Amino acid sequence: MRVPVIAGNWKMNKGPKEAAALINELKPLVKDAEATVVVCVPAVDLHAAKQALRGSKIKLGAQNVHYKESGAYTGELSAGMLREAGAEYVIIGHSERRQYFGETDETVNLRVKAAVQGGLIPIICVGEKREQREAGYTDTLVTYQTLIALTGLTGDEVSKTIIAYEPVWAIGTGLTATDEQANETIAVIREAIRAKYGKRVSNKVRIQYGGSMNPKNVKGLMAQPEIDGGLIGVASLKAADFSQVVNNSK
Ligand code: PGA
Repeated sequence: MRVPVIAGNWKMNKGPKEAAALINELKPLVKDAEATVVVCVPAVDLHAAKQALRGSKIKLGAQNVHYKESGAYTGELSAGMLREAGAEYVIIGHSERRQYFGETDETVNLRVKAAVQGGLIPIICVGEKREQREAGYTDTLVTYQTLIALTGLTGDEVSKTIIAYEPVWAIGTGLTATDEQANETIAVIREAIRAKYGKRVSNKVRIQYGGSMNPKNVKGLMAQPEIDGGLIGVASLKAADFSQVVNNSK
């Protein structure tokens, strides 16, 4: 009943010309997709990507958003600016932002609220590091990361957000959580949302898996009942790979 959502996270790859070329290659390959397909491109590519996406159902996303509408925040971009440039989705709290740019659960929450108020659909990333999994903290950690990120939203708003469960040890490493590990942890996240916002909300919210998802492992992951799609890094940079992930995500 939940429509899967497959989102490409291009990270710091490709300028406007290459972005348009990749989108033009991708469009015919995913034209029959049943999933919601999103490409989260570098902000400087939004304009070119928007133009290249004309006539396609593929949605456009950004990779971060600031929590103020405007002001003296050098280098930052507001939800309004991203909307105007064509974005409908935005990744928030990616582990690379937490690791390299000091993002915290509190700033993630501020950004989530700003995104929702500004009309963007947030793709909120949560996930444990290897040592946290080994210490047995995964469930507690993802529960709190999720609930803090969503603080201040109404149930209705929560039901429209997308959560990406991304174990940090699986990102860009070629290591994937097993199908069962990913399903179990996503079930924990959904249960946390149910306990706080009720079943109507938890049944609607889409929770993706992310971390080395690719054409080979997508079917097994997507066969799990709790997994509603994927946030795809490396495999989103090649049209052939990304389209295979999309087309095998039913
Ligand atoms: P990966 O990245 O697919 O390259 O592991 C996923 C992500 O960081 O969202």
